[in-house]
Amino acid sequence: MLILSIESSCDETAAAVTRNGRETLSEEIFSQADKFELYGGVVPEIASRNHLDAIARLADAAVKNAGISKKDIGAVAVTYAPGLIGALLVGLGFAKGLSLALGVPLIPVHHLRGHIASNYIAFPELAPPFLALVVSGGNSVIADVRSYTDMRVVGATRDDAAGECFDKAARALGLPYPGGAKLDELARTGDAGKYKLTRPVVAGSPYDMSFSGLKTAVVNAIHNSGQRGEELDRASLAASLVAAASDILVPRVMAAAAELGYDKIAVAGGVAANSRIRADLKSAAEAAGKTLFIPPLRLCGDNAAMIGCQGYYEYLAGNTGSMETNGYASMEI
Ligand code: KG4
Repeated sequence: MLILSIESSCDETAAAVTRNGRETLSEEIFSQADKFELYGGVVPEIASRNHLDAIARLADAAVKNAGISKKDIGAVAVTYAPGLIGALLVGLGFAKGLSLALGVPLIPVHHLRGHIASNYIAFPELAPPFLALVVSGGNSVIADVRSYTDMRVVGATRDDAAGECFDKAARALGLPYPGGAKLDELARTGDAGKYKLTRPVVAGSPYDMSFSGLKTAVVNAIHNSGQRGEELDRASLAASLVAAASDILVPRVMAAAAELGYDKIAVAGGVAANSRIRADLKSAAEAAGKTLFIPPLRLCGDNAAMIGCQGYYEYLAGNTGSMETNGYASMEI
């Protein structure tokens, strides 16, 4: 089955054509990130307007580059939650129009389920059940993936996502938006032990996380060094931050996998691109005898192929939408 998929939950407009979930025939992506450098973050209304400008062009290109015609499309999959609501509604409205015009089913897809599915594209042998860690700009979730469409949150951030913490800390360090990747680069030359940053614990919830205090700790370290007239070691502060975030994420993932008895761990989301977190996860998984799946960088960030892939499994489970399907800024996985 060929699915045309649409992703517009934040500042990437994307369209793809996938066959039977895991095979990607074409993938188009328009990142608006450079448009938000000026503001140091995403401005939701501008993102929505940019989606509106780009979406039809991308969908057309996805169909053309897949070497198919619109009549070959069997269903339209679209991210409907969670995300920036205005941005989501642009993609959802477009997908509804397309499904109506083509007379094919609409498949609403949860964005985080899509991120998890990027692993199915990268690793043909991977199938549920397994434990998943989804770390992105808007979410940090540890999920029990019991089947392709039955998932349960085991732990989640109580405040900011890891990516939000990286982006805001990067901004405080003078790096342009989106700062996560640049922070990663800067951190590679620093001493991760130089700044003692907090590793918060959520009392009574061993798998829940908190990143907002870490963000504040970085801002305070910058102010303190300024007030004392000391020169800030930016690379070491970046390295200390990434090490703290990794220390928050990795032990929780390993403990959750052990408790649930999973020997497979799949990681997804933009922050999964972080070199330190990838390396720490790899060595922790190796030490515990678990198999770790992390998609290539290209599939870590927002893309539409992952939505088409998850959309296929939602379709098989009968989870199709209708002309009444709405979008939601937040939703349990
Ligand atoms: O999954 P994604 O593309 O979008 C959301 O769904 O949020 O994730 C974007 C996030 C941003 O916060 C970005 O700074 C972060 O992923 N990111 C990274 C790296 N590359 C992207 N964070 C740390 N290290 C990286 N190498």
